[in-house]
Amino acid sequence: MKGFVTIEGCEGVGKSTQVRFLKEYLERTSQAAVFTREPGGTQAGEKIREILLQKKMGAVCEAHLFAAARAEHIDKVILPAIKENKLVICDRYIDSSFAYQGFARGLGIEKVIQINSYAMQNCMPQYTVFLDMSPLNSWRRQKGKVIDDRMEKETVEFHLKVYNGFLELLKMYPQRFIRIVPHEDKLQTFERIKTALIERGFIN
Ligand code: TYD
Repeated sequence: MKGFVTIEGCEGVGKSTQVRFLKEYLERTSQAAVFTREPGGTQAGEKIREILLQKKMGAVCEAHLFAAARAEHIDKVILPAIKENKLVICDRYIDSSFAYQGFARGLGIEKVIQINSYAMQNCMPQYTVFLDMSPLNSWRRQKGKVIDDRMEKETVEFHLKVYNGFLELLKMYPQRFIRIVPHEDKLQTFERIKTALIERGFIN
C-alpha cells in the first residue's frame, strides 16, 4: 500500500528510538504522517496487547489475537490515514507475526498468512525497514533493562529463531524489505534509514 512503511527488528535493536527520530524529522520538515504501533494503535488493540504480553496462551490463540488487533488497527487507523494522504509509519506489523508466530512459534508462514488474510484486506506495507541486528548483540546492549513482558522472557533460542525468521523474510520479499544495519551511533543509523526512504521517494 503506497504511503505505508513498517519498521521491524528483534527486541532491543533500538527500533523505538529510530521511530522517534523519524517522527521528529517529519515534523521538522512538515511532512504529514501518522505514527502507530502493533499490537495496539486502537483502544481495543491496546487491550488485546495487554492480554498478549501478559497472559499465557498457545501459538494459535496468540496468532489470532495479533490478527484481531491488526484488523481493528487497519480499519480505524491505517486506511483512514492513507485516504487522507498521510504517510503511515507502523512499529511492527505482519512481518512480526511471520517471524514470531510463523518461524519462532512454529506455525509456519502459510498458516500465518491464512489467519491474517481476512483481517488484513490486502493492506501490505509499501516498504519494511528491518533493523538487522542479532539478538545476541542487542541483548548485550540492553544490560540492566527491566524485562517485563512474555515475549521478552522467552529464551535466547526463541529470539534467534525470530531473527532467522526475519532473515528468511528478507529473502522472500527483497523488493519490499530495506535492510539497515544499526550503527553504534544512533544518529548514524537514522541517517541510513532516512537516506533509504528518501531514495525510494517515500519521504522528502
Ligand atoms: P513491544 O513491547 O512493542 O516490543 P518491541 O518494543 O520490541 O517492539 O511488544 C510487542 C511484542 O509482540 C514483541 O515481542 C513482538 C511481538 N509481536 C508478535 O509476536 N507478533 C506480532 O504480530 C506483533 C505485531 C508483535
